[in-house]
Amino acid sequence: MGLWANRVLPLLVEKACRSTTILAERKRWVPRAHGNVLELGIGSGLNLAFYDPERVTKITGIDPSVPLLAKARTRIGVVPVELVHGSAERLPFVSAHFDSAVVTYSLCSVKDPSAVLAEVRRVLRPGGELFFVEHGLARDVRTRAWQHRITPAWRRIAGNCHLDRDIAKLLSEAGFRSDDLHAGYTEGAKALSFTYEGTARALR
Ligand SMILES: C[S@@+](CC[C@H](N)C(=O)[O-])C[C@H]1O[C@@H](n2cnc3c(N)ncnc32)[C@H](O)[C@@H]1O
Repeated sequence: MGLWANRVLPLLVEKACRSTTILAERKRWVPRAHGNVLELGIGSGLNLAFYDPERVTKITGIDPSVPLLAKARTRIGVVPVELVHGSAERLPFVSAHFDSAVVTYSLCSVKDPSAVLAEVRRVLRPGGELFFVEHGLARDVRTRAWQHRITPAWRRIAGNCHLDRDIAKLLSEAGFRSDDLHAGYTEGAKALSFTYEGTARALR
């Protein structure tokens, strides 16, 4: 990995992911996680401060970035945390192992979001919940066109971040249902700020 991916990008990702809006989203969703929790693409561990120690017994975070995992290690609090170096497309866990899962701003960057969601489904126990906050494909035609146009260049400089993934569709195709899905613009550039948030449960 070069200087960009190893040093510069982790700093930029960290800064972008600490905006007031994103911190409010973390505060809204992360405390809902419970039991034995899996966090996909845990990155620098910005969610760790928001887990409720009364509800969570253990957090397992997976991410392929060594520098981001090193930063996450510094953010471990009272809840036991295991950090795993790896990719969420192939989760090294037995089936039905977790009570709940969290994913924030990572489905945009993984190689294969469908494979990741299939894996999440496998490792969640029946009735387990996935709490998600993700940016993705907007609903209006103009912004969508921009997102498709910009993504090939954007993902090359932004750690494989895609602006045009339809998170609701990916969840539904992976066999998840969300009754509280909220999708809409937050702050900032429209191409980057169309956000999906909610709770997904696997249909059996
Ligand atoms: C924009 S960052 C978000 C980090 C963190 N989830 C947060 O909310 O601050 C995207 C993260 O996805 C991770 N990532 C990329 N490909 C991945 C994969 N195949 N499996 C798991 N995580 C991945 C990156 O290393 C990075 O930590």
